[in-house]
Amino acid sequence: MNEHIAFIHPKEENKDSLQQLFHKALDLVLNSTTTACEKRPMPELHNLFAPIEIPDAPVPITEIFENLKALIDTAMRPEHPGYIGHMDPPPATFSIIGDMVASFLNNNMFSFEMSPSFTVLEHKLLNLFAKLFGLPHGAGGVMLSGGTLSNLEAICLARNVKLFTHQISLADLKSTPVLFASSEAHTSIHKAAMVLGLGANAVIEVPTDSFGRMDTKALQQKITACKNEGKTPFCVVGTAGTTVTGMIDPLEKIHKIAQDEGLWMHVDAVFGGALVTSPQYRHLLKGVEHADSISFNPQKWLCVTKTCSMLLIRDSALLKSCFHTKLPYMTSHEEGPNIGEIALQGTRYPDILKLWLTLQCFGLQGWSKLIDNGMRLKEQFLKEVKKRPYLTLAATSDVNVICFKLDKDNEQNKALQKFLLDDKQIFLSLPKRGEELWLKAVLINPNIPPDLIDKLFNAIDEFVRVKVS
Ligand SMILES: Cc1ncc(COP(=O)(O)O)c(C=O)c1O
Repeated sequence: MNEHIAFIHPKEENKDSLQQLFHKALDLVLNSTTTACEKRPMPELHNLFAPIEIPDAPVPITEIFENLKALIDTAMRPEHPGYIGHMDPPPATFSIIGDMVASFLNNNMFSFEMSPSFTVLEHKLLNLFAKLFGLPHGAGGVMLSGGTLSNLEAICLARNVKLFTHQISLADLKSTPVLFASSEAHTSIHKAAMVLGLGANAVIEVPTDSFGRMDTKALQQKITACKNEGKTPFCVVGTAGTTVTGMIDPLEKIHKIAQDEGLWMHVDAVFGGALVTSPQYRHLLKGVEHADSISFNPQKWLCVTKTCSMLLIRDSALLKSCFHTKLPYMTSHEEGPNIGEIALQGTRYPDILKLWLTLQCFGLQGWSKLIDNGMRLKEQFLKEVKKRPYLTLAATSDVNVICFKLDKDNEQNKALQKFLLDDKQIFLSLPKRGEELWLKAVLINPNIPPDLIDKLFNAIDEFVRVKVS
C-alpha cells in the first residue's frame, strides 16, 4: 500500500509524492515548534503510555502522521522560552538541515569509500577545532555519538598509551591502575572505568575547593597516597564546566601535576569547551592547550542537533597505534582513512555535516554571541540569588549553569520546581547532590526573553511568601 513512497526513486518517479510527504512532516513539526510558547516547556505526562502494537500490514499514511503528531505533542520542548533546566538547547536551523541531508545520503563514517566527502570533512574540520583549542600541529580528532563515548574513547586511549593494554591484558599488569577526577566530574568517567575493565573504584575522587573546582593539593596527595599503596596512576581528568555546578577545574595546575607524575591529561570540556569560540571568555579555559585529549559537545552550548560530540587528541597518530584493527573487507584509500579502523565506533552517522553547516551559518562570531549572552544572563541570575537570604548557591559557576536551592527541605524544593513549571511555565531541573535536591538553571536557550529572570525570581518570592510555612 505504501510501496510507492517507501524509498526514493532514482529516476524521479515518486518525486512529487515524496515532496508532499516531506511537506506534511515539515508542517507538522514546524506547527508544533513555532508555537511552543502556547504550550508548557514540558508536556503533560499523562497519555504517554498509550498502547502500541507491532503492525502486521502497512499502516495508512494518514494514521502514521496521526501517530507521529501524538509523539510530537508529548515531546520535550527546548525552544520554549521557559525551558532552562538542562544542557539541551533548541536546535540551530542549519543543524536540522544537516540532519535531514545526512539522512537522505545515508553515508557511513565507518570507511572512506562509504563516506568519502564526509571523511575528508571530518578530518579537516577536527584538525581546525584542535587548533582552536590550542593543540599543536599533529593534533586531530574523531566525532563520536555523545560525550559519554568521547570520554570513554579518551580514557581508553590513556589506558592503552600509558599501560599498553591494547596489547597486554589488564590481568597481566603488576599493579592496580587508577585515574583521578573531581567529585563533581561527570558520571561518564566512572562508566568508562567500568566498561574498560578498570572498575568504577579505579576513579579516585578528588575533593573540590569551596568554589567547586578540583583541589589540586588534594590531587597531589591522592596521587602520592595511591603510589604508596602500590597502585599505578595513569590519568587525570579535569572538567571544564561541571554538569551540576558549572565550574572549570584549574587546568594549568592539573597539567603541571600530570606532567610531573607522567599522567595522561584528559579535559572533559563537553559543556565548557564552547567558551573557546568567545574572545571575551576563552581565557577561562587556560591550560586546556596542554591536554593530551579533550572531549567537546557542540550539541550543547553551540546548539547543534544531537548527537554531535568530538574527541580531540594532541597526537592524533596515537589513534592508529592504540586502536588499529584491520578491516580486511574494506579497501584502503590514500585520500583518507577508514575511520572505523582507528576509532571506537564502527558504523557512524556523519554528525560532521551539521556541525559544518551550523558553523557556516553562525561563524565563530555568531557562536561567540551565544556564549557572551549566556554569561551575561548568568551574572544577572547570580545577583538575584545572592540578594535573597533564603536561597543558597552551590557554586559561583564559571559558565552559565547555576545550581541553587531554598534553605528548606527536599520536599519544599521539589514543590518549588513544580510550582514554577505548572504556574509560571518555567522549567528548572532538580539535581541531587549528596542527599539534597537542588534547582538547576542552564542559560543556553537563545529564546530566553529579557524579563524571564525577573519573572522567575518574582515567582520564587511569591512561592516563599505564600506556600512556605
Ligand atoms: C561535563 C559532562 N561530561 C560528559 C557528559 C556526557 O555527555 P553525553 O550526555 O553527550 O553523553 C555530560 C552530559 O551532560 C557532561 O555535562
